Amino acid sequence: MRNVILDCDPGHDDAISIIIAASNVSDLNILGITTVAGNVEVEKNTINTLKICELLELDVPVVQGARRPLVKASEIAPEIHGETGMDGPVLADPKMQVTEGHAVDFIIDQVMNSSEPVTLVPTGPLTNIAMALIKEPRIIENIDEIVLMGGGTFGNWTPAAEFNIFVDAEAAKVVYDSSVPVTMFGLDVTHQVIATKDIIERTAKIDNKIAVFVKELLIFFGETYKNHFGFNGGPIHDACTTMYLLKPELFQTEYLNVTVETKGEYSYGMTVIDTLSVTGREPNTNVALGVNTDEFWTLFEEILKSFDGGQ
Ligand code: RIB
Ligand code: CA
Repeated sequence: MRNVILDCDPGHDDAISIIIAASNVSDLNILGITTVAGNVEVEKNTINTLKICELLELDVPVVQGARRPLVKASEIAPEIHGETGMDGPVLADPKMQVTEGHAVDFIIDQVMNSSEPVTLVPTGPLTNIAMALIKEPRIIENIDEIVLMGGGTFGNWTPAAEFNIFVDAEAAKVVYDSSVPVTMFGLDVTHQVIATKDIIERTAKIDNKIAVFVKELLIFFGETYKNHFGFNGGPIHDACTTMYLLKPELFQTEYLNVTVETKGEYSYGMTVIDTLSVTGREPNTNVALGVNTDEFWTLFEEILKSFDGGQ
């Protein structure tokens, strides 16, 4: 079992990433799920996380984190994920309670006290991760990898910047410059895993409550991406992180130097990927650039079917 902490802003695709990690074909040991301001306010992201855990019967600590980025004012995306942050499916109000304390302290405590290295899996802005690295730099010694969704060679929030990085570019720079090994799933690869009508139809054939929930997430998310970007479905960005942890061979990566622009008027939040190694800076990031989509969706179906006969 691989120890992981999921740091997220559910978020339709964050929800799917959590489901993958919690599935019956997963060998991940979820130490906890931390939440961060991103798609919507952190309180809403936390409620969504509790709802997802309750649906999954996943009894792990859910710990709320940063309400705003390190420097900039908050930026949210209700136009993409709806006012609740997870519009579309209707889940019961959670009975499950949030765990007391702050996500940053939870991450530090878990990493410092884990007998085995911990993988951090952020799928929202990197505020919590950066704050943990700043507050307790010794955690670097027991983090085996940061597997994140964010960035890319183009943007979806500005022409240069992807949303997660743009919301808190200063935090992202702390993470990329930290010396912790980073594996990055940016838009170059996440836009290759679009949940088209065919994928939704395949999901609709799986008869359990988790698959029904995922189908409803994909329908809403697909409509948003059709209306906003003219896509033929929603790219399930965040799912790439936990799919990679289950089956890394699904993805083609390149080991490159990546840093983050925090000053540019037009390029703030850009992940500056040194594809041709022109800077001479040491590589620091496994950048995912390709994915075997047939195998990705086959595993996706297997994961959803693993909830047959209960949660
Ligand atoms: O740009 C895509 C990212 O922004 C995803 O993590 C999505 O959930 C939103 O947070
Ligand atoms: Ca997210």
